Amino acid sequence: MKNMKPFLRAQGSLLAIFIILILLFSGCQAEQPSPPAISMQDLSPVKQGYLQQGLIELVPDDLPAPILPDQPGQLERGQLKYYQVCLACHGNWGQGLTDEWRATGFGDDMNCWQSKCHAPNHPPHGFEIPKEMPPLLGITALSTLANAEQLYQIIYQSMPWWDPGALTSQEAVDLTAYLMNARGELPDGIELTKDNLAAFPLHGQPVELVNANLGGIILISGLSIAMASYIWTKKSSKKFEQ
Ligand code: HEC
Repeated sequence: MKNMKPFLRAQGSLLAIFIILILLFSGCQAEQPSPPAISMQDLSPVKQGYLQQGLIELVPDDLPAPILPDQPGQLERGQLKYYQVCLACHGNWGQGLTDEWRATGFGDDMNCWQSKCHAPNHPPHGFEIPKEMPPLLGITALSTLANAEQLYQIIYQSMPWWDPGALTSQEAVDLTAYLMNARGELPDGIELTKDNLAAFPLHGQPVELVNANLGGIILISGLSIAMASYIWTKKSSKKFEQ
């Protein structure tokens, strides 16, 4: 039986090294964030500038009119509402009413404040708008809001700006989910409801980091299993010795 000892020990170490290598590999894999669907070259120069300053994330340049399936999910419903109601003031990629958005989206009507249209002397059925329309997407946006509940409340109670209270509660929840998902702060497949809103923080960890953490967890638990299997083979080889 003594002859078995080196054999078992070698086998145990090999097994441990093999498991460690596999886990190191899978850990590294999980840490890689998935590549964005669009690249820097796809963006307009203005938007490239915003991105370089870290003001926005890499999101498509134009928000096309969404085409909804027969049974739209929450994100799709939110996207459609955003497109129909919020886009004019908050921009086609959530940038706010920037000069660039007025120039690309409004054509001849780009001077919203001069054309009487939305100035203090607006027509009887019109309304005045402030000069600043805050961005909703991007790292610096929504800085005073802490979670989905607060985002929902502001949308439900005070938006759209010219007709607060016009949205149903469900529409405001859908919009909250759509914006949080577009910000990378709500993974696909999670349905927001009025009851779970407070559980979803804004400005938290980006989704990629959560994946990286998962890689770390797999790595650590794998290392423990490898250690345990090494100790176990050592022990059993000792048994053979006796
Ligand atoms: C007519 C222009 C207009 C429209 C349309 C509009 N908003 Fe706003 N929105 C504003 C303005 C102006 C503010 C800033 C209000 C303030 O500071 O008091 C604002 C603020 C916000 C904020 C708070 C931002 C922050 O940083 O605190 C959110 C969220 C928001 N809007 C979401 C929406 C959503 C969602 C819609 C579509 C349902 C919408 N808005 C439609 C003009 C608009």
